[in-house]
Amino acid sequence: MNSIAVLTSGGDSPGMNACIRAVVRYGISMGLKVYGVRRGYAGLIEDDIKLMDERSVGNIIQQGGTVLKTARCKEFMTSSGVDTAVENLKKHGIEGLVVIGGDGSFRGARELINRGILCACVPGTIDNNLFYTDYTIGFDTAVNTVVDLINNVRDTSVSHDRVSIVETMGAGCGDIALTAGLASGADVILVPEVKWSIDEVCDKLVGARNHRKECSIIVLSEHVCDPTDLAKMISVKCDIDCRTVILGHVQRGGKPTSFDRNLATNCGARAVQELVNGNPGVVGLRGGKYVYVDIETALHGSRKFNIAEFELAERLSF
Ligand code: F6P
Repeated sequence: MNSIAVLTSGGDSPGMNACIRAVVRYGISMGLKVYGVRRGYAGLIEDDIKLMDERSVGNIIQQGGTVLKTARCKEFMTSSGVDTAVENLKKHGIEGLVVIGGDGSFRGARELINRGILCACVPGTIDNNLFYTDYTIGFDTAVNTVVDLINNVRDTSVSHDRVSIVETMGAGCGDIALTAGLASGADVILVPEVKWSIDEVCDKLVGARNHRKECSIIVLSEHVCDPTDLAKMISVKCDIDCRTVILGHVQRGGKPTSFDRNLATNCGARAVQELVNGNPGVVGLRGGKYVYVDIETALHGSRKFNIAEFELAERLSF
């Protein structure tokens, strides 16, 4: 093998830059030419592919976002889009590709693998929604960002004796809400994995007031319900002032934590090693060990929600 390439795709996540740096420098250290593809699969189709060197990835280990930029590419979901991408890779003599992204990006890589392109994927998403790995790159940073922001919300919530609903991202996975909620002492955590009712939530909030609580924090995972409607229902049913904070993209930026940098660095290097060995697949971290699994396996299981932590958070929130 002489040449490989790296791209980032889908929603960005803190730590992607540390991973790009590891892929480029590890590849060069093994005598490979390493290309960077800009804007994910869109750049593959548009032939936005440049040779990188060790200095192209200097001073980026600490930066959020992705220096290669990223995109969600509809054209890559068509057969002709994938054909063009394959032609461009061949034109540059690229024999292996590292794809850093989430499940949508992995599905794109599967298309390339099915057409004979060797791909090694790395889990880059804040959502932590991939079942085969305990952690995805960016999740730890996003949780820490959410916890910091909830601290701020709590200050003002106490001053005004309010209930505050804080909506997190997650794309159908409650891990950000759960982990940040537990770390923030949230009174209520609402996630897609656990059934809930407005009456239960209201009983809890009224009970908290009766226990002399000055404020309550509800951490709500996105798409579980409309936060504004929930706030209105709580205000009416409980007669407590209730406000909403939708965190949105602030939780996707910022300096990656050391955990995410090191996860990204290890995954990037392992991906290059697997390409050199001729193995397509997906890197992950399971039970403290780095693993390399088949892409079909990675895409087909469903993530197990940590119900024990959820129950612990509930038990302590009186
Ligand atoms: O998958 C990452 C993610 O940040 C999700 O948590 C969120 O639902 C989505 O991307 C937002 O996407 P966009 O930035 O395209 O609005």
